[in-house]
Amino acid sequence: MLLERNETAGSVISAPVSEQQKDWDYVHYWQLWHRNWDNLDVETIQRLCQLQGKSVLEVGCGDGRITTMLAPYCERILGVDLEPRFIEIGKQRIAESGLTNVELKVMDACRLELADESVDFVLFPWVLQMVSDPGAAVREAYRALRPGGMIVVIGLLSDADYDRIIDRFVPGVPRIDPIACYEEPLAEVFGVSKVEKIPDVPFAYFFGSKETAYDAFDFALDYWYGKKISSADRAEMQVMVDGYADGQKVRIIFPASVYVAAK
Ligand SMILES: C[S@@+](CC[C@H](N)C(=O)[O-])C[C@H]1O[C@@H](n2cnc3c(N)ncnc32)[C@H](O)[C@@H]1O
Repeated sequence: MLLERNETAGSVISAPVSEQQKDWDYVHYWQLWHRNWDNLDVETIQRLCQLQGKSVLEVGCGDGRITTMLAPYCERILGVDLEPRFIEIGKQRIAESGLTNVELKVMDACRLELADESVDFVLFPWVLQMVSDPGAAVREAYRALRPGGMIVVIGLLSDADYDRIIDRFVPGVPRIDPIACYEEPLAEVFGVSKVEKIPDVPFAYFFGSKETAYDAFDFALDYWYGKKISSADRAEMQVMVDGYADGQKVRIIFPASVYVAAK
């Protein structure tokens, strides 16, 4: 069964006023970027993986967006991420949902605290390009997989609408190398003949309003690239963002290659 498209999302956890304001601002703005995917990534995982009765590991789960959406369809699911603040938010969401077969833990993809051959699926949605040693992460995934188990990598590509806007204000941002990030590690660990590639799926992301999109790009430029833009640049950024307006929303495409390999 496929999930409903997430057409109504657009809300984020509001930032509480406290001495941890800066931390929470980070989480607030991070969630502008990580909450409002259309659910094509979740649907793709469901199409590729027969989850019923299976145990699943999501590596780099962030705040558990995908983990919690998949939980109703599998026996049990564990989401792990390096960032404790995201895991904390995800745990709150799970507590509110009443789901009992999902767990989130702080853990490094390159040092999984899991027994050998203990899970049926390992998922890497939008993660491997961020991991410092993708080879180590794929080796760990292989170790944790049962024989016959499967890895699914959703590998972000660099020619996203996002890059077109960021590049205008921060020239020379390094591009993702899909060979080094995804293809070589998978081929080395699973064997080249076992790796199947679904090329360039047009996954999409939306903001609930143009103002939210402007805020998200302001944040991205400042926090992720250290670039405080001038008011003239901001006006130009807003015109670029408006080019992706779709009714009241702003919809941008994040192309990704999807890789699947069985152990
Ligand atoms: C783009 S987010 C994707 C989040 C989630 N999979 C989703 O699609 O909503 C990438 C996540 O990978 C995590 N990450 C990066 N390096 C990691 C590592 N070595 N081990 C575990 N998580 C890592 C980051 O903290 C971040 O939450």
